[in-house]
Amino acid sequence: MEWTVVSHWSVPTMQIMTVIRIQTTGMWSLVTVALFLALSPTGSDAAPKVQQRGAVATVHPLASEAAMRAMESGGNAIDAAVVAGLTLGVVDGFNSGIGGGCFMVIHRADGSVIALDGREKAPAAATRDMFVRDGKGDSKLSQTGALAIGVPGSLAVYEHAIRHYGKLTLRQHLLAAAEISEKGFPLTRTYVQRLESAVKELRAFDAARSIFLTADGSSLEQGFVLRQPDLARSYRVLAEQGIGWFYGGDFAIRMERWMKSNGGIATAKDFQAYDFKLREAVRTTYRGHEIVGFPPPSSGGVHVGQILNILEQFDLKTMGAGSADFVHVVTEAMKLAFADRAFWLGDPDFVPVPRGLMSKEYAAKLAKRIDLRRASPVPKHDEPDGASTDVFGKHTTHFSCADADGNWVACTATVNTTFGSKVVIPGTGIVMNNQMDDFSIQPGVANAFGLLGAEANAVAPGKRPLSSMSPTIVLKEGRPVMAVGAAGGPTIISQTLLAILHVVDFGADSSNALAQARFHHQWRPDELRVEKRLPESVRAELSRRGHRVVVTESLGAAQVVAVDEKGKFSGVADPRGEGLGLAR
Ligand code: DON
Repeated sequence: MEWTVVSHWSVPTMQIMTVIRIQTTGMWSLVTVALFLALSPTGSDAAPKVQQRGAVATVHPLASEAAMRAMESGGNAIDAAVVAGLTLGVVDGFNSGIGGGCFMVIHRADGSVIALDGREKAPAAATRDMFVRDGKGDSKLSQTGALAIGVPGSLAVYEHAIRHYGKLTLRQHLLAAAEISEKGFPLTRTYVQRLESAVKELRAFDAARSIFLTADGSSLEQGFVLRQPDLARSYRVLAEQGIGWFYGGDFAIRMERWMKSNGGIATAKDFQAYDFKLREAVRTTYRGHEIVGFPPPSSGGVHVGQILNILEQFDLKTMGAGSADFVHVVTEAMKLAFADRAFWLGDPDFVPVPRGLMSKEYAAKLAKRIDLRRASPVPKHDEPDGASTDVFGKHTTHFSCADADGNWVACTATVNTTFGSKVVIPGTGIVMNNQMDDFSIQPGVANAFGLLGAEANAVAPGKRPLSSMSPTIVLKEGRPVMAVGAAGGPTIISQTLLAILHVVDFGADSSNALAQARFHHQWRPDELRVEKRLPESVRAELSRRGHRVVVTESLGAAQVVAVDEKGKFSGVADPRGEGLGLAR
């Protein structure tokens, strides 16, 4: 395996805290981990003294406890994040695991920021039209089974993060998670709901069926203690042999064998060639805060930044949180950004993605297109200055590691939709992703999240599919004050944006920010999805302004970790889910 370093840089900062926060979400499959740590309260002069050692919030109590335990036994925030990620792969495997990918942003005590790209890659034999049958893009193929699987990257990122920034070892974390896998854990209501939604497809794959379904092929029940001995064995072998087992050893060989007899194209060579990337985080400012996000192949950092830049042109505070004026202007900004996303965004190693999408000048131009009285049609994307010349680079640079006493990590991981491709490579217990569906499989054919794409996100060998995952760290006066991330496909961008707006514009605390009614517009389809909790009167006013309002029970799952001015941490799991926040 070859490692490529794309960039590394620093800004002056301090350190102080310990907060971990991990999140998984609702309908589909993803985990966001945001984690702060300050083992030593001696960072900056201005930094308030923090009493807590750390905090963590994940969608599962066992993952939160594992992360906290790692910190309490000498590990740091990176250790905690990795053990949480590995544990979530056991207790929340329908969302994420080592058969999937992740983006991890680390903000270290010395101010350096590292963005680790563990996004899946298309196998070498992938072709632009690999999902087209009889002239039509077939989403069944990109969502379920062998062809849906991209070469996973989470494990490569976890290994790199621990080796360079952790204090404990990957082996320790794997063994801790293996124990839970072996002993088992009782299934929650959410787990069973997700299982029920995937029963039909899971039945088609023997190894998955034997782990996740009863002998007669139905869903397991709430409270059932799920033991996963194969996954435990895989984690133990990894602990002994290292990640070479996965990328170049027995796992890769078994995977290739399974692929060959099931119509797949991924090979052991693809796994061996997998390279995670160190990328340069994207940054913008918003009303005195600095927003640090994940660059392409995530669209999250670019568009959260772009929408904030547009909204900076409007006085949201006077409009008021949750008002029709507020929802209207944010929606109009979302439409403009998502139209750009569909056209411009793709893997920057393959296509030129304009940096100008995040410029203040471009945002000011787009803001002028917004009519505050009515919904404006957005027929197509716009174009920032220098769109073909000033693009996200594919440069390589060296990255050095240093001790970190104060660290901050935000990581979003996923196997894509529920139980990914539904494939478990026999004997390994590892659920494989269906991230190939995040490519634009054919012009006009939407992916599982209703997203359309263009040439920039067409399938190509070795290419990474476009993502919306938006692990984000917000800084004030150079100091981290908030980490936020979400799950839920493109709504991740809206959820992350809304959490930031409620904190920055309206002064909400984390828990209040997450409790607010959410809404989402992704340009196509031309509809404004709003949560039921948005008052009827506001919905009526939005319809009057020309929005096609679609009401939904609940939208996504965002997690926020924040530190207040006194240095007190808060970690809040989305009230819509079953997550747990810990701070001690
Ligand atoms: O990378 C993306 O944008 C999607 N694969 C994320 C999937 C997701 O959010 C599923 N979770 N709820």
